[in-house]
Amino acid sequence: MKYALVTGGSRGIGKAICLKLSQMGMPVVINYQSNDKSAQETCELIKQLGGAAELLKFDVSDKEQVDNALNTWEDNHPDDYFSVLVNNAGKRHDNVLFMMDDSEWNDVISTTLNGFFYLTRRLLKHMMPRRRGGRIINISSLSGIKGLPGQCNYSAAKAGLIGATKALAQEVASRGVTVNAIAPGFIETDMTKDLSKEDLVKLVPVGRFGKPEEVAALVAFLVSDEAAYITGEVININGGLHT
Ligand SMILES: NC(=O)c1ccc[n+]([C@@H]2O[C@H](COP(=O)([O-])OP(=O)(O)OC[C@H]3O[C@@H](n4cnc5c(N)ncnc54)[C@H](OP(=O)(O)O)[C@@H]3O)[C@@H](O)[C@H]2O)c1
Repeated sequence: MKYALVTGGSRGIGKAICLKLSQMGMPVVINYQSNDKSAQETCELIKQLGGAAELLKFDVSDKEQVDNALNTWEDNHPDDYFSVLVNNAGKRHDNVLFMMDDSEWNDVISTTLNGFFYLTRRLLKHMMPRRRGGRIINISSLSGIKGLPGQCNYSAAKAGLIGATKALAQEVASRGVTVNAIAPGFIETDMTKDLSKEDLVKLVPVGRFGKPEEVAALVAFLVSDEAAYITGEVININGGLHT
Protein backbone atom coordinates (compact mmCIF):
# COMPACT_ATOMS: atom_id res chain seq x y z
CA MET A 1 0.00 0.00 0.00
CA LYS A 2 1.09 3.56 -0.65
CA TYR A 3 1.50 5.91 2.32
CA ALA A 4 2.15 9.61 2.80
CA LEU A 5 4.72 10.85 5.31
CA VAL A 6 4.27 14.41 6.54
CA THR A 7 7.10 15.76 8.69
CA GLY A 8 5.86 18.14 11.37
CA GLY A 9 2.39 16.75 10.67
CA SER A 10 1.00 17.16 14.17
CA ARG A 11 0.24 20.89 14.23
CA GLY A 12 -0.44 23.88 11.97
CA ILE A 13 0.11 23.47 8.24
CA GLY A 14 1.31 19.86 8.59
CA LYS A 15 -1.84 18.88 10.48
CA ALA A 16 -4.03 20.38 7.74
CA ILE A 17 -2.00 18.49 5.12
CA CYS A 18 -2.43 15.19 7.00
CA LEU A 19 -6.18 15.74 7.25
CA LYS A 20 -6.47 16.60 3.56
CA LEU A 21 -4.39 13.65 2.34
CA SER A 22 -6.34 11.25 4.53
CA GLN A 23 -9.59 12.66 3.12
CA MET A 24 -8.18 11.79 -0.32
CA GLY A 25 -8.00 8.18 0.86
CA MET A 26 -4.30 8.06 1.61
CA PRO A 27 -3.00 6.51 4.86
CA VAL A 28 -0.80 9.10 6.55
CA VAL A 29 2.17 8.85 8.86
CA ILE A 30 2.38 11.88 11.11
CA ASN A 31 5.89 12.81 12.16
CA TYR A 32 6.56 15.25 15.01
CA GLN A 33 9.38 16.09 17.38
CA SER A 34 8.18 16.41 20.97
CA ASN A 35 4.57 17.53 21.49
CA ASP A 36 2.90 14.14 22.09
CA LYS A 37 -0.48 15.61 23.03
CA SER A 38 -0.98 17.52 19.77
CA ALA A 39 0.24 14.55 17.75
CA GLN A 40 -2.19 12.16 19.44
CA GLU A 41 -5.07 14.62 18.96
CA THR A 42 -4.31 14.94 15.24
CA CYS A 43 -4.04 11.18 14.83
CA GLU A 44 -7.34 10.62 16.67
CA LEU A 45 -9.11 13.31 14.63
CA ILE A 46 -8.09 11.66 11.36
CA LYS A 47 -9.34 8.29 12.60
CA GLN A 48 -12.64 9.79 13.80
CA LEU A 49 -13.12 11.21 10.30
CA GLY A 50 -12.66 7.74 8.82
CA GLY A 51 -9.04 8.05 7.72
CA ALA A 52 -5.98 5.95 8.54
CA ALA A 53 -3.12 7.51 10.47
CA GLU A 54 -0.17 6.56 12.62
CA LEU A 55 2.45 8.51 14.56
CA LEU A 56 6.20 8.43 13.99
CA LYS A 57 8.12 10.55 16.47
CA PHE A 58 11.63 11.64 15.51
CA ASP A 59 13.73 14.74 15.06
CA VAL A 60 14.15 15.20 11.29
CA SER A 61 17.56 16.82 11.81
CA ASP A 62 18.95 13.76 13.62
CA LYS A 63 20.10 11.10 11.15
CA GLU A 64 20.13 8.31 13.72
CA GLN A 65 16.57 9.05 14.85
CA VAL A 66 15.37 9.24 11.23
CA ASP A 67 16.97 5.90 10.34
CA ASN A 68 15.80 4.12 13.51
CA ALA A 69 12.21 5.29 13.08
CA LEU A 70 12.05 4.40 9.39
CA ASN A 71 13.76 1.03 9.91
CA THR A 72 11.10 0.14 12.47
CA TRP A 73 8.31 1.39 10.21
CA GLU A 74 9.62 -0.63 7.26
CA ASP A 75 9.95 -3.77 9.41
CA ASN A 76 6.29 -3.39 10.40
CA HIS A 77 5.16 -2.62 6.84
CA PRO A 78 6.99 -5.07 4.56
CA ASP A 79 4.58 -4.55 1.65
CA ASP A 80 4.16 -0.79 1.96
CA TYR A 81 6.14 2.29 0.94
CA PHE A 82 5.87 6.06 0.99
CA SER A 83 4.77 7.46 -2.36
CA VAL A 84 4.28 10.96 -0.93
CA LEU A 85 6.74 12.87 1.22
CA VAL A 86 5.91 16.34 2.51
CA ASN A 87 8.98 17.97 4.05
CA ASN A 88 7.07 20.36 6.26
CA ALA A 89 8.87 20.35 9.65
CA GLY A 90 10.38 23.75 10.27
CA LYS A 91 11.43 26.15 12.98
CA ARG A 92 12.00 29.84 13.54
CA HIS A 93 14.62 31.29 15.90
CA ASP A 94 14.58 34.91 14.79
CA ASN A 95 17.42 37.27 15.63
CA VAL A 96 19.52 39.86 13.86
CA LEU A 97 22.60 38.18 12.45
CA PHE A 98 25.20 40.00 14.58
CA MET A 99 23.45 38.75 17.75
CA MET A 100 22.55 35.27 16.48
CA ASP A 101 24.11 32.43 18.44
CA ASP A 102 25.30 29.12 17.00
CA SER A 103 22.28 27.14 18.16
CA GLU A 104 19.82 29.60 16.58
CA TRP A 105 21.64 29.24 13.27
CA ASN A 106 22.28 25.49 13.41
CA ASP A 107 18.85 24.40 14.63
CA VAL A 108 16.97 26.27 11.90
CA ILE A 109 19.33 25.27 9.08
CA SER A 110 19.52 21.67 10.23
CA THR A 111 15.79 21.15 10.71
CA THR A 112 15.02 22.38 7.20
CA LEU A 113 18.01 21.23 5.17
CA ASN A 114 19.30 18.13 6.97
CA GLY A 115 15.69 17.11 7.51
CA PHE A 116 15.05 17.37 3.78
CA PHE A 117 18.26 15.44 3.02
CA TYR A 118 17.85 12.54 5.45
CA LEU A 119 14.18 11.91 4.65
CA THR A 120 14.23 12.48 0.92
CA ARG A 121 17.36 10.44 0.21
CA ARG A 122 15.93 7.54 2.10
CA LEU A 123 12.38 7.57 0.70
CA LEU A 124 13.52 8.08 -2.89
CA LYS A 125 15.04 4.60 -2.77
CA HIS A 126 11.51 3.22 -2.69
CA MET A 127 9.94 5.64 -5.19
CA MET A 128 12.51 5.25 -7.96
CA PRO A 129 12.78 1.49 -8.65
CA ARG A 130 10.59 0.24 -11.49
CA ARG A 131 9.35 3.84 -12.01
CA ARG A 132 6.92 3.43 -9.10
CA GLY A 133 6.82 7.20 -8.96
CA GLY A 134 6.20 9.60 -6.15
CA ARG A 135 5.54 13.12 -5.00
CA ILE A 136 7.91 15.20 -2.92
CA ILE A 137 6.66 18.55 -1.65
CA ASN A 138 8.94 20.89 0.26
CA ILE A 139 7.43 23.62 2.40
CA SER A 140 9.65 26.65 1.90
CA SER A 141 8.61 30.23 2.67
CA LEU A 142 8.24 33.75 1.33
CA SER A 143 11.27 34.38 3.58
CA GLY A 144 13.34 32.08 1.35
CA ILE A 145 12.45 34.07 -1.75
CA LYS A 146 12.43 37.64 -0.50
CA GLY A 147 14.67 37.39 2.56
CA LEU A 148 13.25 38.88 5.76
CA PRO A 149 15.24 40.90 8.32
CA GLY A 150 15.79 39.01 11.57
CA GLN A 151 15.59 35.73 9.70
CA CYS A 152 18.99 35.20 8.04
CA ASN A 153 18.97 31.63 9.34
CA TYR A 154 15.40 30.91 8.24
CA SER A 155 15.73 32.71 4.89
CA ALA A 156 18.95 30.82 4.14
CA ALA A 157 17.35 27.49 5.04
CA LYS A 158 14.22 28.10 3.00
CA ALA A 159 16.17 29.44 0.00
CA GLY A 160 18.41 26.37 0.21
CA LEU A 161 15.37 24.16 0.14
CA ILE A 162 14.25 25.84 -3.11
CA GLY A 163 17.66 25.14 -4.70
CA ALA A 164 17.47 21.51 -3.64
CA THR A 165 13.93 21.24 -5.01
CA LYS A 166 14.98 22.46 -8.46
CA ALA A 167 18.07 20.24 -8.61
CA LEU A 168 16.35 17.09 -7.39
CA ALA A 169 13.38 17.57 -9.73
CA GLN A 170 15.76 17.19 -12.67
CA GLU A 171 17.49 14.16 -11.15
CA VAL A 172 14.34 12.09 -10.64
CA ALA A 173 11.86 13.27 -13.29
CA SER A 174 12.53 10.28 -15.53
CA ARG A 175 11.52 7.96 -12.65
CA GLY A 176 8.06 9.47 -12.35
CA VAL A 177 8.88 11.43 -9.20
CA THR A 178 7.92 15.11 -9.07
CA VAL A 179 9.54 17.54 -6.65
CA ASN A 180 8.00 20.92 -5.92
CA ALA A 181 8.22 23.64 -3.30
CA ILE A 182 5.47 25.73 -1.76
CA ALA A 183 6.31 29.18 -0.42
CA PRO A 184 3.63 30.37 2.01
CA GLY A 185 3.39 33.94 3.26
CA PHE A 186 1.79 34.51 6.68
CA ILE A 187 -0.33 31.52 7.69
CA GLU A 188 -2.25 31.32 10.98
CA THR A 189 -0.43 28.72 13.09
CA ASP A 190 1.52 28.50 16.36
CA MET A 191 4.58 29.63 14.40
CA THR A 192 3.07 33.05 13.67
CA LYS A 193 1.10 33.61 16.88
CA ASP A 194 3.81 35.82 18.44
CA LEU A 195 3.91 38.16 15.41
CA SER A 196 2.16 41.53 15.36
CA LYS A 197 -0.75 40.44 13.20
CA GLU A 198 -2.44 43.85 13.19
CA ASP A 199 0.61 45.48 11.53
CA LEU A 200 1.54 42.63 9.21
CA VAL A 201 -1.92 42.11 7.81
CA LYS A 202 -1.78 45.64 6.37
CA LEU A 203 1.00 44.42 4.06
CA VAL A 204 -1.11 41.60 2.65
CA PRO A 205 -3.23 42.65 -0.37
CA VAL A 206 -5.88 40.03 0.42
CA GLY A 207 -6.16 41.60 3.87
CA ARG A 208 -5.73 38.56 6.11
CA PHE A 209 -3.36 35.77 7.06
CA GLY A 210 -3.79 32.49 5.16
CA LYS A 211 -5.28 29.35 6.64
CA PRO A 212 -3.39 26.04 6.94
CA GLU A 213 -6.21 24.41 4.95
CA GLU A 214 -5.43 26.70 1.99
CA VAL A 215 -1.84 25.40 1.90
CA ALA A 216 -3.12 21.83 2.29
CA ALA A 217 -5.39 22.26 -0.75
CA LEU A 218 -2.35 23.16 -2.84
CA VAL A 219 -0.46 20.13 -1.55
CA ALA A 220 -3.45 17.97 -2.48
CA PHE A 221 -3.32 19.24 -6.05
CA LEU A 222 0.44 18.65 -6.36
CA VAL A 223 -0.05 15.11 -5.07
CA SER A 224 -2.81 14.36 -7.57
CA ASP A 225 -2.33 12.61 -10.92
CA GLU A 226 -3.34 15.84 -12.67
CA ALA A 227 -0.12 17.48 -11.44
CA ALA A 228 2.20 14.89 -13.02
CA TYR A 229 3.70 17.45 -15.43
CA ILE A 230 4.53 20.04 -12.74
CA THR A 231 8.01 19.63 -11.29
CA GLY A 232 10.84 21.83 -10.06
CA GLU A 233 8.38 24.63 -9.35
CA VAL A 234 8.06 27.01 -6.42
CA ILE A 235 4.43 27.96 -5.87
CA ASN A 236 3.66 31.06 -3.83
CA ILE A 237 0.64 31.16 -1.55
CA ASN A 238 0.74 34.51 0.16
CA GLY A 239 -2.39 36.59 -0.47
CA GLY A 240 -0.54 38.77 -2.98
CA LEU A 241 2.37 39.61 -0.67
CA HIS A 242 5.07 39.26 -3.33
CA THR A 243 8.61 40.55 -3.33
N1 LIG B 1 3.04 29.61 9.51
C1 LIG B 1 3.54 30.35 8.55
O1 LIG B 1 3.19 31.53 8.40
C2 LIG B 1 4.55 29.78 7.60
C3 LIG B 1 4.94 30.57 6.52
C4 LIG B 1 5.87 30.07 5.61
C5 LIG B 1 6.39 28.82 5.80
N2 LIG B 1 6.01 28.07 6.87
C6 LIG B 1 6.60 26.75 7.01
O2 LIG B 1 5.57 25.79 7.07
C7 LIG B 1 5.99 24.68 7.87
C8 LIG B 1 4.97 24.42 8.95
O3 LIG B 1 4.86 25.59 9.74
P1 LIG B 1 3.74 25.78 10.87
O4 LIG B 1 3.46 27.22 10.92
O5 LIG B 1 2.66 24.81 10.68
O6 LIG B 1 4.61 25.38 12.18
P2 LIG B 1 4.15 24.97 13.64
O7 LIG B 1 2.71 25.25 13.86
O8 LIG B 1 5.17 25.57 14.54
O9 LIG B 1 4.33 23.35 13.63
C9 LIG B 1 5.61 22.84 13.43
C10 LIG B 1 5.54 21.34 13.29
O10 LIG B 1 6.86 20.88 12.95
C11 LIG B 1 7.28 19.92 13.92
N3 LIG B 1 8.74 20.01 14.04
C12 LIG B 1 9.50 21.11 14.28
N4 LIG B 1 10.79 20.76 14.30
C13 LIG B 1 10.84 19.43 14.05
C14 LIG B 1 11.91 18.50 13.96
N5 LIG B 1 13.19 18.87 14.11
N6 LIG B 1 11.60 17.20 13.71
C15 LIG B 1 10.32 16.81 13.55
N7 LIG B 1 9.27 17.66 13.63
C16 LIG B 1 9.55 18.95 13.88
C17 LIG B 1 6.53 20.27 15.18
O11 LIG B 1 6.48 19.14 16.05
P3 LIG B 1 6.12 19.32 17.63
O12 LIG B 1 4.63 19.55 17.69
O13 LIG B 1 6.52 18.04 18.26
O14 LIG B 1 6.88 20.50 18.12
C18 LIG B 1 5.16 20.61 14.56
O15 LIG B 1 4.47 19.42 14.21
C19 LIG B 1 7.38 25.05 8.41
O16 LIG B 1 8.38 24.49 7.59
C20 LIG B 1 7.40 26.56 8.29
O17 LIG B 1 8.71 27.06 8.19
C21 LIG B 1 5.11 28.52 7.78
